Amino acid sequence: MAALRSFPPSAAKSEVSSVPFLGARALFSLNGKVALVTGGGTGIGSFLAKAFVENGAKVFIASRKMSNLTATADALNAIVPNSCQAISGDVSSKSGCDALAVELKKQTDRLDILVNNSGFAYGGVGIDNVPEQGWDRTFYLNVKALFYLTVALLPLLEKGKTDTNTASVINISSVYSFFPSAFQPTVPGGGATWSYGPSKAAAAQLTKMMAASLMKRHVTVNAILPGYVATPMTKHAPGDILSKAHPSGRMSSAVDMAGIAVLYASPAGAHITGTLTVVDGGMTLQQPDAAGKDVGDSFRPKRDANGTPKL
Ligand SMILES: NC(=O)c1ccc[n+]([C@@H]2O[C@H](COP(=O)([O-])OP(=O)(O)OC[C@H]3O[C@@H](n4cnc5c(N)ncnc54)[C@H](OP(=O)(O)O)[C@@H]3O)[C@@H](O)[C@H]2O)c1
Repeated sequence: MAALRSFPPSAAKSEVSSVPFLGARALFSLNGKVALVTGGGTGIGSFLAKAFVENGAKVFIASRKMSNLTATADALNAIVPNSCQAISGDVSSKSGCDALAVELKKQTDRLDILVNNSGFAYGGVGIDNVPEQGWDRTFYLNVKALFYLTVALLPLLEKGKTDTNTASVINISSVYSFFPSAFQPTVPGGGATWSYGPSKAAAAQLTKMMAASLMKRHVTVNAILPGYVATPMTKHAPGDILSKAHPSGRMSSAVDMAGIAVLYASPAGAHITGTLTVVDGGMTLQQPDAAGKDVGDSFRPKRDANGTPKL
């Protein structure tokens, strides 16, 4: 048997000896962080609030309906005592964003995570039937609120931040920011949410513009672009139909949403900014209209003899 050769210990020092602990509990920890999640009483916002609380953060959730906020805050406080607080607020105007910032400043003198999640989807069945009021409400909430709430909270977000300890702004956009389906199964009877897709595209563009501006101030800005998620927003469309729109065969879950949000908000995300992360089980890898085709023609608008969509 050949003798084993022994080598003297290397004189060179490996780079890893000076690298900090890289276990997941350090990389993705939110310990001691303070978060605000708009629309945190329901749906995706409540999933993210739960993820933040369960990874060590204190979370404020804000929207118009105190009953939903209180129910979610009570549920999260039962899991982690004193981890969640509800604040009433309407972010669909600049004055509403400013008022929410004033209320938050009464509760905390710093903020580490802001999730601009509150959103609204407005569906007109046909291109000829889209009331202006719904169009405007969609843009106020899905675009303007992201900008003015972030700006109003910048003093809290910047406080105490460094190039490795950054604040994180997370905007909830949508795959409909770039996926040009005019036949969405979430619209009863088929048809497009004409103002929703453009509003989410604007949210994605705003994410990149604000990221470019705010990195020097140690604030990252990123967006999550979900496919379909089972929430109050999608409850009127049958779940199996929405599931079929994804090649994965299912809608996105709370786990799918939480994973990317925790990454963005954690030390592991401190150098990630201006990114748009699609979480859709491959939905947008199909032909642009495939999601609509897959769910069947029964969800397309019926047309009269002139080709006009019928309600
Ligand atoms: N579900 C999906 O498939 C899906 C896919 C892609 C993107 N998204 C986006 O995900 C975000 C969350 O939606 P969701 O699916 O979780 O539906 P959701 O449960 O209906 O969430 C919408 C939230 O927005 C809040 N909101 C509405 N108007 C508001 C206002 N004027 N001021 C403050 N908050 C307001 C609502 O709370 P109040 O009524 O109490 O104000 C609610 O909590 C939205 O931006 C949506 O566009 C959803």
